[in-house]
Amino acid sequence: MKIGIGNDHVAVEYKKEISNYIQEKYGYEIINFGTDSTERFNYPESGKKVAEAVAAGQIDYGILICGTGVGIGIAANKVKGVRCVTCSEPYSARLSREHNDTNVLSFGARVVGIELAKMIVDEWFNAEYQGGRHQLRVDMISDMESHLTGRESEF
Ligand code: RB5
Repeated sequence: MKIGIGNDHVAVEYKKEISNYIQEKYGYEIINFGTDSTERFNYPESGKKVAEAVAAGQIDYGILICGTGVGIGIAANKVKGVRCVTCSEPYSARLSREHNDTNVLSFGARVVGIELAKMIVDEWFNAEYQGGRHQLRVDMISDMESHLTGRESEF
């Protein structure tokens, strides 16, 4: 399993701890699309890179971390084929996989304590999309983006 991880300057150490946790517990390959510097870094850049890698099938899932998880999650959701959940507790993380087939998870380094973030990651990884009655709804969301070209933006 390949997991892409992205972050901004707020979440450098936090990103490293989450990456190590995933590697050690699950043995998944982590591909770092984020910054390793605390210099100001615009979160849409890494949100976009991770989201495009998911949409292209280069990675299986993405995890995004900024101060709140909000901006980087909004950026990811602009990429066709990406369903990113921004959440701060495990229940929504699990249900977002089971019902919404989310393929990207975002959370905030300034909002979610690191141990809670690990629980969120665990719930998200261990849940499976249930399909069935949920598929029509996911298809309806996909239809909303059918006009998008997937054209790469300038940055
Ligand atoms: C950076 O100051 C902050 O805006 C960013 O980390 C994130 O919280 C945006 O949604």
